[in-house]
Amino acid sequence: MDLPRLTHRPFGIILNLSYNRTIVLYNRTLAREVLVELDPAEIDYFTDAEVAADPVPYFDYMLAHHPVWREPKYGVVIVTGYHEALEVYRHPEVYSSINRTGGPVLDLPVELAGDDLTDILEQYRAYFPSNDQLVTFDPPMHTDHRALLMGLITPKRLKENEEFLKRTADRFLDELLPKGQCEFIWEYAKRYAILAVADLLGVPEEDHPMLLALLAAERGPMLGNLQLQVSHRGSLERLYDYFIDKIERRRKNPAGDILTGMSLATFPDGTLPDPVHVARIAANLFAAGNETTVQLLGISLARIADDQAVQDQLRQDTALVPRFIEETLRIEAPIRGSFRLTKVRASIGELDLAPGTVVLLLHGAAGRDARVFADPGEFDVQRANARHHLAFGRGIHTCPGAPLARAEAVYSIRRLLERTERIEISAEHHGPAGQRRWDLMPSYKFRGHNHLYLTCTERAAGLWRARAGRAVTRFLPRQRSRRRSRTWPATACSTPSPKAAAWSGRSATSAAGR
Ligand code: HEM
Repeated sequence: MDLPRLTHRPFGIILNLSYNRTIVLYNRTLAREVLVELDPAEIDYFTDAEVAADPVPYFDYMLAHHPVWREPKYGVVIVTGYHEALEVYRHPEVYSSINRTGGPVLDLPVELAGDDLTDILEQYRAYFPSNDQLVTFDPPMHTDHRALLMGLITPKRLKENEEFLKRTADRFLDELLPKGQCEFIWEYAKRYAILAVADLLGVPEEDHPMLLALLAAERGPMLGNLQLQVSHRGSLERLYDYFIDKIERRRKNPAGDILTGMSLATFPDGTLPDPVHVARIAANLFAAGNETTVQLLGISLARIADDQAVQDQLRQDTALVPRFIEETLRIEAPIRGSFRLTKVRASIGELDLAPGTVVLLLHGAAGRDARVFADPGEFDVQRANARHHLAFGRGIHTCPGAPLARAEAVYSIRRLLERTERIEISAEHHGPAGQRRWDLMPSYKFRGHNHLYLTCTERAAGLWRARAGRAVTRFLPRQRSRRRSRTWPATACSTPSPKAAAWSGRSATSAAGR
């Protein structure tokens, strides 16, 4: 093959991955195909900025050659294979979650020696990051606290929460769409994700502004960046105090509301927990459910706005939106990876692991495993098994917030599609199509946008209301066929919102004309 041969890390779009350690890429800078030799040992997954920005070539190479691989710098065992990841998820007695939110290096004042580290890990729990969060607990402690949590996120509560999600999506869009453009992450996604959890927990609406001021003012902790990793305990601790206060008041004076239910929730053995345990679980839902859902919303909107064919397909049939969300989660998992630590001797694939080995499960890579997903690099809204992705994890720690995250994404995207004629990426901020400059989180653990600038052409209110009305009843066969035969008047599609305001005070006319 007559292609330039690069021996350094690849960057570009994978065209063909061969099994002799080479990858054919389309390199945007050179504007041509290049052949890349990939030596995984040269790549530091934890610090390489280009891999963080686009890990796909790395994931694909690892899946093809080393679905389980011990990287040489830190000795971390990196699991990209789908089946191999499931093996780890299914054995919490072997793989502890205590280091779940940590990094590749353990920072402990003790050497991890012995055949069974179960006791010593619990003894030194205080040295692990996020050690008071459910996601880092192992059984039996995890079993008790998870039961407490599941008493808060019941199917009934989730159902009641849906009304709030729909109403809030419309309220935010009422504010944003007339402007004709928005920065979607901060103006919509962050506020929406925080209020979704707040309503789920029964936080009274008069306290919502306080929560937004506390949580939406700053980006969450920059997890998954060895240089920028910072603690984010401050705002969470203030939330602990908020919930402890509510729980203590409701225990004294039950009010028959959701917070009262939270205050009276018991462990599986019937004992009433210390208020701080319930408060931690409640407050940590904001940490677990905020950034992740913001990322899902951002990734989804970036794809919809960047790919007009997908956008048209979804707008024509909004019933496809849930499938679109699953395929997005498969191909771009918002949480790329979770750590585990072996408590005892173990083996995954062909590798033997000593007790005390750090393991990194790459959920994001597992969604691209060709043994499970045909043509894994293709984004296919109709993919039958997209929902088998591991973006929400598996096993005892499976994400309990998954139904909420899915509902947030579905309601937001449906309403955006119903209420707009067109959504586009702002070329002014992100460059022209095909040469986008995304502002991504510099993280090996997370996939998400720091900022996402969009332009939108709002649909005239009468039209989207009428259309949304039909969408509710479209499962009725007669109404469905009527909807398909109808086309919208051209004037409605081309008329920009009269109220369109622009970034930096630019006029509505110039914004619409871009
Ligand atoms: C797109 C959004 C979300 C993604 C991708 C996501 C992903 C995950 C993953 C992968 C895990 C398992 C981690 C592991 O096994 O180490 C997890 C656990 C968890 N998630 Fe989510 N999550 C999302 C939204 C939410 C929401 C909205 C909430 C709360 C309302 C939430 C609450 C939790 C909690 C409490 C856990 C820990 C469960 C346990 O340890 O038993 N998540 N999430």
